Amino acid sequence: MGRSDMGGIERGAAAVKLRVRRRSGSGPDDRPSGEEPKNDGKQEAEPVDGTPSEGTTLPEAVSHDDQSPAAASSRSVLGRGAEVPPVRVTGLGVQIKDGDSRKWIVRNLSFSARAGEVVGLAGPSGSGKTTVLMCLAGVAHHAEGEVHVAGKGRLPGQLSPPSELRKVGIVFQDYHLVQALNALDNVSLPLRLDGTRWKRAAPEAIHLLAWFGLSRSVFKYPSQLSGGEQQRVAIARAMVRQPAVLLADEPTAHLDAASTRLVAESLHELALYGTCVIVSSHDPRLLSRFEHVVDLGRR
Ligand SMILES: Nc1ncnc2c1ncn2[C@@H]1O[C@H](COP(=O)(O)OP(=O)(O)OP(=O)(O)O)[C@@H](O)[C@H]1O
Ligand SMILES: [Mg+2]
Repeated sequence: MGRSDMGGIERGAAAVKLRVRRRSGSGPDDRPSGEEPKNDGKQEAEPVDGTPSEGTTLPEAVSHDDQSPAAASSRSVLGRGAEVPPVRVTGLGVQIKDGDSRKWIVRNLSFSARAGEVVGLAGPSGSGKTTVLMCLAGVAHHAEGEVHVAGKGRLPGQLSPPSELRKVGIVFQDYHLVQALNALDNVSLPLRLDGTRWKRAAPEAIHLLAWFGLSRSVFKYPSQLSGGEQQRVAIARAMVRQPAVLLADEPTAHLDAASTRLVAESLHELALYGTCVIVSSHDPRLLSRFEHVVDLGRR
């Protein structure tokens, strides 16, 4: 990434304040004073994520003593189910085929993450970070233990139905941008698939792209973007629906220091509004910013 690009990021971050719809009504408010919260119809349509509904009953796991803004936000959003963490993994084990036998990639992994929390998933290459994230996303199945994400429990062998996938935003390690769509269309795609009209989806996407310093790349296709720019488009796309749970797989792998700082800030800001964020990384610049890090290499 060149110097001019870094400058673009810093200008973008300085000029554009991240605008996030509050999940709870109790998160920080960055609206100008006197401005009414916008009602775009999406908030009502969204489920109260994290509230247990069908599936396995989730036990309480979060201390009532936590007085952080994020925890308070979580409590007020979730009401009766306030103590239920949106991500809870118990005794997770994942196997792969290894010739005629099977090999454990991950074994006996347990952790939970609250609404409003950013949790790092650390470990050297091959330690299973992507595998764990894909299990959380519900697109890969596990062999042992239980996985609870956004109020749904999954037992070994189970994948998430498409309706559940919509509660989770995923930033893939290798972006998975739609090559035939420009940056604006890629970022607005999750909203469009939800039925949001273009005139509402486009400003949301443009705002996020601007926040990531990509105002000049709105109409560029992935093949016209650098790796770092594609990474930022992918993160914006995962954030645009403000999912209950955001899973980011090495989101700063291709970014310089300025972009890494911006990504870390955006993930924390999203969390302040109630999203539970799980970030895999072996980047100490990023991991040092998280209070809670699960290290797959040291268990
Ligand atoms: N579908 C698969 N078939 C065979 N082996 C696999 C499969 N998926 C993962 N593995 C193996 O499982 C292990 C963990 O892989 P994973 O991609 O989860 O690690 P990682 O921590 O994300 O690594 P990296 O930091 O390089 O991205 C690796 O040894 C990998 O080769
Ligand atoms: Mg990986």
